Amino acid sequence: MRHFIVLIFCVIFVVGAVAPVKAEADREQLLKETGVYATFAVFQASEQWWQMEPQARASASADVKKIIEKYADRLTTDVHLLRGLSERADILIRIHSKEMIHNQNFLLDLMATNLGKHFKNVDVFNGITKALNYVPNFPGDLKDELKTPPPQGSKYVVVVPIRKDAEWWNTAQDSRTSMMKEHTDATVAYLKTVKRKLYHSSGLDDWDFITYFETSKLDDFNNLVTGLLQVKENQHNRVFGDPLLLGTIRPLDEILEVLAR
Ligand code: HEM
Repeated sequence: MRHFIVLIFCVIFVVGAVAPVKAEADREQLLKETGVYATFAVFQASEQWWQMEPQARASASADVKKIIEKYADRLTTDVHLLRGLSERADILIRIHSKEMIHNQNFLLDLMATNLGKHFKNVDVFNGITKALNYVPNFPGDLKDELKTPPPQGSKYVVVVPIRKDAEWWNTAQDSRTSMMKEHTDATVAYLKTVKRKLYHSSGLDDWDFITYFETSKLDDFNNLVTGLLQVKENQHNRVFGDPLLLGTIRPLDEILEVLAR
């Protein structure tokens, strides 16, 4: 019997010890998979928030961590700091999960916290990750270029929602492939400094795409976008950004500390 109890304790200990590793592995998988639902929720702190005592704000901020932990088995969350770089928003929360309802439940719980009650939800973008539409028909050398490993540990995030025009959707697949090849040719020089992720939004939001980028070189990003504004495909971008979000990638504790300052 004693051996059995010791065994149970060992199992609990081992499972407990490996749990964070599993969650991290799931995160990597979720960020790679197709059919994953993403929600970008943008919040702005109220005037009253900044007038609260720093101690009260610090304790309210701590609730964010509790909600993130509560949902850790269902979704991944990334919190980014927009404050100072945006006049309309302070934080961006990017959520990924297999069911949009998990994203909603997470946000409902967050909005019900002391912090959430002082933060206005100024924008939400929803999208889904999908299999590549054009790349399979690109020439082999361009496909090889696209395998360039993206940068790691970037400082900045940029989110650009995009709406295409009706003509784009009514253009034959091969003509769109040729325009997307021109788009991709213009981006090759930036593969080493810009990491990207594409979300499809048609029918889930007012947008057609949510484009997400991480980079430490905003000068490269500026040149990349200038180059893309010159390709034919851009003539089909009915809305490009507006809002465009620029923020920084920092540890959650640092962001919560800024909100308590
Ligand atoms: C290093 C930078 C970039 C690279 C390597 C890149 C590459 C690509 C590739 C290969 C595709 C086709 C995906 C497929 O086969 O389905 C694509 C699609 C797309 N890209 Fe980029 N891109 C970059 C930057 C950007 C930027 C800066 C924007 C706009 C802000 C943008 C907007 C889009 C959009 C909206 C699509 C979807 C088009 C559609 O499916 O109709 N890309 N990109």
